[in-house]
Amino acid sequence: MLKGKDLLSIHDLSLDEFHEILSLAKELKAMQKAGVQHHILEGKTLGMIFEKSSTRTRVSFETGMYQLGGQALFLSNRDLQLGRGEPIKDTARVLSRYLDGIMIRTYGHDRVEELAKWASVPVINALTDLLHPCQVLTDLLTIQEHKGSHLSDLKMVYVGDGNNMTNSYLYGAAKAGMTFVAATPPDYRPDPTVVKNAMEDAKETGATLSLVTDPHEAVKDADIVVTDTWASMGQEAEHDARKKIFAPYQVNKELLAAADKRVIVMHCLPAYRGEEITEDVFEANADVIFDEAENRLHTQKAIMALTMGD
Ligand code: CP
Ligand code: NVA
Repeated sequence: MLKGKDLLSIHDLSLDEFHEILSLAKELKAMQKAGVQHHILEGKTLGMIFEKSSTRTRVSFETGMYQLGGQALFLSNRDLQLGRGEPIKDTARVLSRYLDGIMIRTYGHDRVEELAKWASVPVINALTDLLHPCQVLTDLLTIQEHKGSHLSDLKMVYVGDGNNMTNSYLYGAAKAGMTFVAATPPDYRPDPTVVKNAMEDAKETGATLSLVTDPHEAVKDADIVVTDTWASMGQEAEHDARKKIFAPYQVNKELLAAADKRVIVMHCLPAYRGEEITEDVFEANADVIFDEAENRLHTQKAIMALTMGD
């Protein structure tokens, strides 16, 4: 279903495509654990354009491509002519002549859309200022593993900055039919267009999405509490000011007291202990958080196999 298509946003996926990614990710993970190789991308090459830093995304895409029998090329903005002003539309057309797929991490979401418009090979969004779809698909797989129930029976609460993760959680929760609450300061709500689109998507699945400002009220009976950095990449200059604004949104023991007793806390990483999450809460949930990090590998293998496979 996804063959030859881009993966720019969870919103663009049909419900079948959305569930196909999660079930193939689960299957590929089980195969890898059983030592079974699956070289479905043999002879194929993925180009990975990074205009921002990364630990997990780079290593998991590169390793995933290798495990599927293909290879990956790390293309840093510092080395590409793109970084010296070559237009994205030219870069897209050139890279499409060499590669079978392009992954990009960048700032403006319009850059990914422009790349996808001009590329003739699938483009995968590996984080923009607006969205982080690969991470949220990964998180949903991790929730399935740890909660063992239907996603639609679960309540997930995001606490913190209404950023690219929050926007993608809205899209992911809408497709999964979940109850999702984002608790953010009033001036740091998720993107209004994303909220509108996600509310539309939610009608199809019965998901309940809400935006609030009180984190204590939000986490009541939560099955999953999730947070992210208060200052995303590109917002480093605002970090000190943000620390003050977001202080009431820290995920700590006291906040979690109102959640379900079996609540799990997730974090896409990197985490800033003492800011969005306390050391004790982080370490108490380390198993889930590092499964979440591992699952980037399996989820992205599924995305690459489905979009770039024959
Ligand atoms: N979570 C995530 O995308 O991590 P990196 O920035 O290290 O890739
Ligand atoms: N919101 C964070 C996510 C990092 C994976 C950022 O954009 O920096």
